Amino acid sequence: MALDAQSIQAAVDAAHRDNAGLQGGANASYIPYLASVDSSLFGVAVVTAEGEVHSAGDADFEFALESISKVFTMARAMADVGPEAFHQKIGADPTGLPFNSVMALELHNDKPLSPLVNAGAMSSASLVKAEGAEQRWQRILETQQAFAGRKIQLSPEVNHSEQTTNFHNRAIAWLLYSGGAMYSDPMEACDVYTRQCSTLVSTKDLATMGATLAAGGMNPVTQERVVAAELVPHMLAEMTMEGLYTSSGDWAYTVGLPGKSGVGGGVLSVAPGKLAIAAFSPPLDPVGNSVRGMAAVAQVAQRLDLSLY
Ligand code: DON
Repeated sequence: MALDAQSIQAAVDAAHRDNAGLQGGANASYIPYLASVDSSLFGVAVVTAEGEVHSAGDADFEFALESISKVFTMARAMADVGPEAFHQKIGADPTGLPFNSVMALELHNDKPLSPLVNAGAMSSASLVKAEGAEQRWQRILETQQAFAGRKIQLSPEVNHSEQTTNFHNRAIAWLLYSGGAMYSDPMEACDVYTRQCSTLVSTKDLATMGATLAAGGMNPVTQERVVAAELVPHMLAEMTMEGLYTSSGDWAYTVGLPGKSGVGGGVLSVAPGKLAIAAFSPPLDPVGNSVRGMAAVAQVAQRLDLSLY
């Protein structure tokens, strides 16, 4: 299938139409805000490595970035400490366990293994060069904004909902600290991680963030260099290994592209050098991945023959 504008738009439209009626899954219930989002919302978008935007459905509706934020904090931390130190301190393997697993840390001498699970994401946030919480937060937020090419913002409502319920993550942060894998004050890292999950993006923003990776670290819409080209393959490898948690292997097998999901209902996949596909729909499967979102992204990737393998 050729990657001309008409074929891409047709694939996006079909993925929206064919999956809109897909049933199953439930909104995340452990964060009160997420439970309250309209479950019927559904958006699909593609942004190409040249900056062309294609979308269908509720692609302008803004939802919580959640775990997809881990990708952009990874970029900031990897750039700050260098890819070798990042690899050595965090790792690049799947945990084989849920995204907020404590057991994963216990099994691996307190090494997080991946920046895309909660432990590794908080450890990554702690690696970002900063003097204090506000500078750490600003540098992470500015990184998200550079990937999106616009001033995306923290939702005070989502942040409040998360900060008042994140006790499990606080426990993980202290465990990391006791194991020597936390590089700032642990509660500062947990606070900033919680904020980074609480920003609002649209499906189009998400596709632009992914297109920045597809274009080798240059935002194709703003033409700003956001991350060094040599870091992008490391980031995509991390996404392949753990981007969809315990479904990452199935995603590689069936879709064949690096991806990342969040409990807000967003799903992102990157076809290097070509484009990024994003989708949003709140109901999640038991792993924490959007049911319609995964189906839509997979359909676009398959129809456009984008698998890397
Ligand atoms: O750490 C948490 O629980 C959330 N703020 C983010 C988790 C998340 O999105 C996991 N992804 N599917």
